[in-house]
Amino acid sequence: MNITLRQLRVFEAVVKHMSYTRASEELHLTQPAVSMQIRQLEDTVGMPLFEQLGKRIYLTEAGNEMLRYGKRILHEVNEADTVFNEMRGLHRGHLDIAVVTTANAFSSKVLAAFLKKYENISANLMVENRVKVLEHLQKNAIDLAVMGKPPASMDLTFQSFMENPLVAVASPDHPLSTEKKIPLTSLIKYTFLVREAGSGTRIAMERFLSGHGLRIHSEVEMSSNEAIKEGVQAGLGLAIVSMHTILLELETHRLEVLDVENMPIKRNWYVVHRKEKRLSQLAQTFSDFLISDASQYVFHPVRTS
Ligand code: PGA
Repeated sequence: MNITLRQLRVFEAVVKHMSYTRASEELHLTQPAVSMQIRQLEDTVGMPLFEQLGKRIYLTEAGNEMLRYGKRILHEVNEADTVFNEMRGLHRGHLDIAVVTTANAFSSKVLAAFLKKYENISANLMVENRVKVLEHLQKNAIDLAVMGKPPASMDLTFQSFMENPLVAVASPDHPLSTEKKIPLTSLIKYTFLVREAGSGTRIAMERFLSGHGLRIHSEVEMSSNEAIKEGVQAGLGLAIVSMHTILLELETHRLEVLDVENMPIKRNWYVVHRKEKRLSQLAQTFSDFLISDASQYVFHPVRTS
């Protein structure tokens, strides 16, 4: 039997409307084109599929059988199409991600592992502070973001996937580096190196201190975690940074985590997207990968007071 999918689709549309004219409108074909497809199908079957009584058309017995098989065949073909589309979605495609600067410490490693697993994927990883990442979400310029908890005022879907402890650090020769259970009131007597105004780390630090009725008296503002770490090592002051940014400095004893009362500041990492956005299969898979695998790519030993 030499039936084509096109004939089956035309047949299905004619049955749906029980009208050649309306089927041709739905399929954007001329009416003679629809009639021709049905005639060819009837020739292949060797029996009429419709009969005309007055102005109306009806399915014949052979037409009913054709409908039964046609539905099954088209359903299987559509299902196969969906499966292949999804598979294609994972084996090629593009991801636009924005991560806050502090999350870059592990995000690049997670992305590298993801790209190794799913080949033929390209990605754009924007690394900016919290306020800029929120702007990208607002403009719908990205698929996913990785950041601290987003504001409730924006229509976002977010899921926490890992802790992000913020700790106070000093150079190893700082007088506080050998102290135990340092009160916050002693800590804030020193100069602090702080991130720029749009930084999530800075917002979290200020919220934490003001929750204890405190604020920093002397500060030097710097626009990157790298600059802050360099400054602390150089003895310019203390800083509050994410534990995830100081792996190398702790291993090489260039920075010390201070033993401060009520610290570390508890914060979490979230994977975020706009609520109304339909994530591509690829973006959803990356989000799932982050949630399940990100913790493998960070360093955890938090010293609690
Ligand atoms: P930041 O964000 O890199 O902008 O400081 C970090 C965070 O939100 O915890």
